[in-house]
Amino acid sequence: MSLKKRIRDENDARCFINSAVDEIKNKVKKGKVILALSGGVDSSVSSLLLKMAVPGQYTLIHINHGFMRQNESKEIIDLFKNRLKSSVVYVDESDKFISSIEGVSNPEKKRKIIGELFIRVFEKQADKIKGVTHLSMGTIYPDVSESKGVKTHHNVGGLPEQMNLKVLEPLRQLYKDEVRLVGKVLNLPPEILYRQPFPGPGLAVRCLGAVTRDRLEAVRKSDAILREEFKKSGLEDKVWQYFTLIPDYRSTGVKKGKRTFEYPVIIRAVNSSDTTECCIKKIPYKVLFVVTNRILSEVDGVNRVLYDLSPKPPATIEWE
Ligand code: XMP
Repeated sequence: MSLKKRIRDENDARCFINSAVDEIKNKVKKGKVILALSGGVDSSVSSLLLKMAVPGQYTLIHINHGFMRQNESKEIIDLFKNRLKSSVVYVDESDKFISSIEGVSNPEKKRKIIGELFIRVFEKQADKIKGVTHLSMGTIYPDVSESKGVKTHHNVGGLPEQMNLKVLEPLRQLYKDEVRLVGKVLNLPPEILYRQPFPGPGLAVRCLGAVTRDRLEAVRKSDAILREEFKKSGLEDKVWQYFTLIPDYRSTGVKKGKRTFEYPVIIRAVNSSDTTECCIKKIPYKVLFVVTNRILSEVDGVNRVLYDLSPKPPATIEWE
């Protein structure tokens, strides 16, 4: 059952901020919080609420799980440092995460393993700071509702039953568009406010089936090409979410007169307001041709590019 939207304008957002700040203060008291900062709008807004509610009692931690987009971790740390004057603890655990799902092809299993490892890695970080009582996350309502039957969002159904830290999720009742309104009122820089949604398990759910390092690199590279070309064509702000993914099967092709047997890359570009539904944004063929040609010539191991035209429902935005 979906939740009724509560935040329709900036006044509603201000009321929400006041009550969220009170709630955080009441829960944390004299404790300490670590925030899992992915750098998306949800965790960034959560960080601003913490700053208002419990200044000096929280630490922002960004985990690079190896499934981030090209240069993304560095961009996030720099944005927080330069635009929000906040320091972020950077932890590179990519090898650990990538090995943890080696050979695992079931999407729900992958999500659960990544969700559990996330918590263990944060618990380890918490041990390094004295007196941490809470782990804060940017969980929003669709993460909760979709985890009940559609797919296990890593920050909800992927959580282990036994946890050493109490979970603090100030945005748990909000939809994405409501979070953006709150972020706007809190003066979150536009580069973060309008950042495309990115799933917690990252490219692991865009590298379909059992993740391999070569396909992971192919999806990262093709995604970077797509984003670069959308930016050049002025589509960056007009399309809600766009990305590439790569299946785990190959097809026959031909390069310089020789047979190839390589992977396809699939392009997805959708518009949505709150992630519960999406429609297909029409992308000019000219842009699709440029993206296709660049992927075919610049990404190793790929011999086809496809374009997914399916709305949600019946499809979901991510394939896994
Ligand atoms: P689906 O694929 O369910 O995605 O239509 C809806 C929106 O949620 C994002 N997504 C996630 N976000 N953790 C997140 O924080 C996750 O595990 C997750 N899975 C999907 C997806 O990118 C889309 O914007």
